[in-house]
Amino acid sequence: MKENNSMSQYLGYIRKENSLFIQQIKAYAKENHVPIIKDDMASLMTVLLQMAKPFRILEIGTAIGYSTILMMQALEEVVDISRVKVTTIERDDQMVNQARKNIHQSGYENQIHQIHGDATDVLQELCRKQEQYDFIFLDAAKGQYLTFLPDVLYLLKKQGTLVSDNVLQQGDVARSRFNVPRRRRTIHQRMRQYLWEINHHKQLSTTVLDIADGATISIKIQE
Ligand SMILES: C[S@@+](CC[C@H](N)C(=O)[O-])C[C@H]1O[C@@H](n2cnc3c(N)ncnc32)[C@H](O)[C@@H]1O
Repeated sequence: MKENNSMSQYLGYIRKENSLFIQQIKAYAKENHVPIIKDDMASLMTVLLQMAKPFRILEIGTAIGYSTILMMQALEEVVDISRVKVTTIERDDQMVNQARKNIHQSGYENQIHQIHGDATDVLQELCRKQEQYDFIFLDAAKGQYLTFLPDVLYLLKKQGTLVSDNVLQQGDVARSRFNVPRRRRTIHQRMRQYLWEINHHKQLSTTVLDIADGATISIKIQE
């Protein structure tokens, strides 16, 4: 998001290297134009997970499993990984298949439950089953975040963490709608509503960070 190249180069230089396997998935993503979390977001997620030590995680937007595996690797450094369960939702067939391969190779197959479907339906199903999560990572279609929010809040345990990625839309969100190209105005309006809602929701305490593509971290402070 920030256009401070020398700073981001420096921060990239001092950042700890990821495992070779994670680097390979990242290279595949780059080659095949799969959108995955940026390095600064990945390191934020690592620290957040290691602080929160969640055992039940929900990810909305698996893509090829990059962030899913990264979350497991982060947690393995601080908790008994056999106790961790990640449920991850993806609607795109090709992504689901590639994620399946990566997850199989990662060795975390027993801990990761992939659900192939549209999050709109899957979240409702999870609510019906009264599932509960300590940590929810929202990284799917930006225009749907607001629609997902009631279910996400229902599924999140009290004191649980909600992280959403891609919330600043390359800076669009701060611009007046008239300065945003017409084709991006609906998404612009929805993201503004989402950001307003999570910042003012009585169940949430939220901070918005201008890192990577923009991220929010919220804690569910009330049932
Ligand atoms: C930004 S990518 C996820 C990247 C992944 N979290 C990572 O960092 O490795 C977003 C993914 O969400 C999926 N997606 C978008 N809207 C969705 C929905 N309503 N239900 C399920 N998957 C969705 C897309 O197909 C895409 O693969």
